[in-house]
Amino acid sequence: SLEPYYVSDEFGFILPSPLADLPPYYQPWMDIARNVPDLICSHTLRSHILKMPLLNTHSLKSHKELRLAHLTLSVMTMGYVWQEGQNETVKMLPRNLAIPYWEVSQCLGLPPILTHADAVLANWKKRDPQGPFDMENLELLFTLPGGDSVRGFFMATLLVELAAVPAIRTIPLVINGVQSGDAETVTRALEEMSQGIQDMTDTLKLMHANVEPEVFYGIMRIYLSGWKDNLCMPAGLMYEGVHAEPMEFSGASAAQSSLIHCLDELLGIKHEAKSGAFLTRMRNYMPPAHKSLIQDISLQPSLRGFVQKQDSETLTAAFQLCVTKLLAFRSYHINVVSRFITLPAARARKLRNQGNHSQKETVNRAPTALEETGTGGSGIMSFLKTVRDSTRDGSLPLD
Ligand code: ALA
Repeated sequence: SLEPYYVSDEFGFILPSPLADLPPYYQPWMDIARNVPDLICSHTLRSHILKMPLLNTHSLKSHKELRLAHLTLSVMTMGYVWQEGQNETVKMLPRNLAIPYWEVSQCLGLPPILTHADAVLANWKKRDPQGPFDMENLELLFTLPGGDSVRGFFMATLLVELAAVPAIRTIPLVINGVQSGDAETVTRALEEMSQGIQDMTDTLKLMHANVEPEVFYGIMRIYLSGWKDNLCMPAGLMYEGVHAEPMEFSGASAAQSSLIHCLDELLGIKHEAKSGAFLTRMRNYMPPAHKSLIQDISLQPSLRGFVQKQDSETLTAAFQLCVTKLLAFRSYHINVVSRFITLPAARARKLRNQGNHSQKETVNRAPTALEETGTGGSGIMSFLKTVRDSTRDGSLPLD
C-alpha cells in the first residue's frame, strides 16, 4: 500500500476531501483570499493585505488545516506580488503575510509559494457531494484572475491526477513482482499501467474545451509565476520578518506533479543534465511524503534490468507499451503547450511588431518575460522536447 506516502488508493496524490474552511480566528485571511480576483481588478489587494492582522499559526494542527492555510496564503501572495503585472512588482512581502506563510510552509515542508500541491491537489470540492468527480461537478476553493479558464485549467490538471490513480496503484505490484521474480505479475501490472497512462492523455484533452488560450496566456500565467529565473523579479522576494535577504522560489509547474516522476523512476527513464536538474529541484516543491515515494522507487532493483533478463516477449512488450504511452503523453502535452503558450506568444509578438500595444488585445497583457519561459522557470519548449526525447531513449528494442 502507498498510504505511508500520503498516496490514497482512491485519490492518488490528490488531497482527499480538502477542508474548505479554517477556524473562525482566520477569517481575516479568508475574507481576502476568497476575493483575490476582484481585489486585483480594483487594485486594492495590496492595501487590504497591508491592513491584515498578524495571526498566530500555532493552532493549525492537522495536515488538512495546514494545506488549506498554505493554499490561502499562497493565493494572497501571488495576487500581492503580481497585482500590477510585470512592471510594478514588489521587493517585499509584508510581515503579516510573510511570517505565517513561512511558518505554515515549514510545518508542511513546502516552499512559501503557490505550488501544484496547493492550486490543484488541495483546491477542490464537489458541487453535489454525492455527485461524480468530474469537470461539471468540481469547483475550486480559491481562484485567481482568468474566470472560468482558471477552473478549467486546475480541474483538467486535477482530473489527470485522478486518471493516473490506477497507474500509480500498480507501482507496488511491479516492484513486488520484480523482487519475487514473478514475471507474470509484472507483465499484468505493466499492462494496467499503460492503460492508466493512456487515460491520463485522454483526460489532458479536457484543457481544450475548458481553457481559453488567450485568457490562459494573457491573464492567468503571471499569477502562477515565481521569483526565481524570472526576469520580472531578478532579485527574488524579501519575506519581511523571516529572513534579512531576499529569497528565490520557482512558480507553479506541472513538473511539481509527482506522477510522471514516479513513472520515470520506475521505467528507468533518465533525463539529461539541465532538464534533469530542473526536475530534481521541482521535487522540493512537492509534499515531502510524495517526494519520498519517488526516491524509494528510484532505490528499487531495476525494472528494465529485470525485463531484459527475463527475455519474455509479453513482458518486454508490456514494458515497451508503458514507455510508448508515456512518450505519447509527453508529445500530447507539447501540443497543448503550443496552443496555450507558443501560438498566443507568436500573436503577441506580431501585434507588437505592428505597433499594437493595446491592452484590449488579451495576449498583450502577458509579460514578455514569459514568452519562452514556463511559469516554473524552464525554457519551456526546449525542456519539454528534451524530456520527451529522453523518454524515447528509454524504450527497449523489441526483437
Ligand atoms: N507551466 C505552465 C506555464 O508555463 C503553467 O504556463
